[in-house]
Amino acid sequence: MKIAVLTSGGDAPGMNAAIRAVVRNAIYNDIEVYAVFEGYRGLVENLIMPVDRTFVSEVINRGGTILRTARLVEFKEKSVRKVAIDNLHRLGINHLVVIGGDGSYVGALRLSEEGLNVICIPGTIDNDIALTDFTIGFDTALQTIVDAVDKLRDTSSSHHRCSLIEVMGRYCGDLALYAGTASGAELIITGERGFDKQKMLEDLKRNRLEGKRHALVIISERIIDIKELSKEVEEYTGFETRPTVLGYVQRGGRPTAFDRVLASKMGAYAVDLLIEGVSGECVGIVGNTLVHDKIEKVLVTPRFVNLKLYHDSEKLR
Ligand code: F6P
Repeated sequence: MKIAVLTSGGDAPGMNAAIRAVVRNAIYNDIEVYAVFEGYRGLVENLIMPVDRTFVSEVINRGGTILRTARLVEFKEKSVRKVAIDNLHRLGINHLVVIGGDGSYVGALRLSEEGLNVICIPGTIDNDIALTDFTIGFDTALQTIVDAVDKLRDTSSSHHRCSLIEVMGRYCGDLALYAGTASGAELIITGERGFDKQKMLEDLKRNRLEGKRHALVIISERIIDIKELSKEVEEYTGFETRPTVLGYVQRGGRPTAFDRVLASKMGAYAVDLLIEGVSGECVGIVGNTLVHDKIEKVLVTPRFVNLKLYHDSEKLR
């Protein structure tokens, strides 16, 4: 057996720890292991090379992905995937580990339908994959956001300002929900919870009338332009308001210990599953137990929305 590993889609802290675990567990089991650079593009362009255990030395603590990554729209085409599969077969490789988000899962599903043995590992800061409690990178991005919000709290409170803070997550509100809870935000606005602008304005106005010196509002990306929103908040509530879009800083940095451990467990498990003959599946963690499910099931299952945590953080604000 020969196993190849790639990272695809947006990078996430902890991907290197997952790559390391795949490489080291494969070698531990006397399996030849290959690195694919630049995601699915690297499969198509033949950026594939055999690696030894030193390839993943000194990477467990590094953010980003040493394999680099890409989003390849053309991978939807069967003819493009055929080039990828042929490149792998020419090297005698029939097993692949894909580390990425749901877009990468779709490509992996097609490859498995077309004969490759594929296991996926959830690597994305968004935590937007079903049937796993956590994705690799979420905890680190969360910590980055909370560090930034703590700093924004200092300046908002010094100036008696309202701070609107936009965080990533694509269409998933978990980064906003957890960051808002961890930083004691006055309001958490996400797609899942729904956005009622008038209610938000009234809540903030009431906060101000009740004598709150400042307010922190965490809002998921892709909901509203927060620069425009901050003008409206200022006009309606009288709160001087400043918008902050945290942006790509959320994707970088040294992975937290939690992400490194999660990535190590998932990477090792992916190889164990391939050895057992499991394919077309993805790894998850549910209640601190590693699980695996069919890729197509994960793609169609609605994600768990933690309504209880929304209610709790509303009570505590
Ligand atoms: O999926 C990770 C993520 O950072 C999302 O949170 C964000 O919406 C998106 O990627 C940004 O994508 P890109 O790197 O293509 O700009």
